[in-house]
Amino acid sequence: MRGAEVVVEGVGKAFGRISALREVSLKVAPGEAIAITGPSGSGKSTLLALIGGLEQPDSGEVLIDGRPLWHGRDLARERRELVGFVFQSHLLLGTLSARANVEVPLIGAGMHRAQRRARALELLDRVGLDERAEHVPAQLSGGERQRVAVARALANEPRLLLADEPTGALDSATSERVLDLLFELRDRLGMTMLVVSYDSAIGARADRTVTLVDGQIRSDGTSAPADGSPPSISRASDVGTQDRTGR
Ligand SMILES: Nc1ncnc2c1ncn2[C@@H]1O[C@H](COP(=O)(O)OP(=O)(O)OP(=O)(O)O)[C@@H](O)[C@H]1O
Ligand SMILES: [Mg+2]
Repeated sequence: MRGAEVVVEGVGKAFGRISALREVSLKVAPGEAIAITGPSGSGKSTLLALIGGLEQPDSGEVLIDGRPLWHGRDLARERRELVGFVFQSHLLLGTLSARANVEVPLIGAGMHRAQRRARALELLDRVGLDERAEHVPAQLSGGERQRVAVARALANEPRLLLADEPTGALDSATSERVLDLLFELRDRLGMTMLVVSYDSAIGARADRTVTLVDGQIRSDGTSAPADGSPPSISRASDVGTQDRTGR
């Protein structure tokens, strides 16, 4: 399996008089891991929603694997098969156990019940919730629910992971564990990842960090190398030619 290629071309999105995104262009190669940062209200969640096909842009275009997202595509079906989402609000199903929540994306995939269960339990184990598998969301802490949401997003091995602060509620050790899982899937399956986060641990592991300010890309560059030398920054308009120097 190969990760999805994502191209955002001059995308604009307004909510009433609020301009959430202005002329945003971004190119993400298959298997690339991008950290997205920027102040509150800068448009990070809106950008993920547009790439995931949850919102339609007012102008510009989102292309997945070279095809425009909003032209004659069965978005609901493609989303299910292609994209794993981790939202800021976890949206777990309240009546289902952690395990059953993780199994939800696998139900449409024609997987046997025993196999689904095994996959869900393995993922919950990976995020440190093996002993919480049969608890419903109301019996879980915020960080535990967040980890169930991560496990669910990864259950069907998506070609594209869109995660909005997946480690926001987690201590650094637990957060490290979740990141290990994300990056292992990236390395093993070539999954493309866009992760909104203020967590510097994600920035350090990502291939690039994109910073949004006021609905525009302020910087888009390779993450700072471990030797402490400054990261290479390319202008937003140059993103087609990724600067891979120093890596
Ligand atoms: N559905 C909506 N209706 C109206 N305004 C919205 C809507 N969604 C987002 N906005 C506005 O668009 C701007 C960008 O919002 P967005 O949620 O993308 O920011 P963000 O960078 O994710 O912020 P945070 O770090 O706080 O999550 C904000 O000014 C926000 O108030
Ligand atoms: Mg947000």
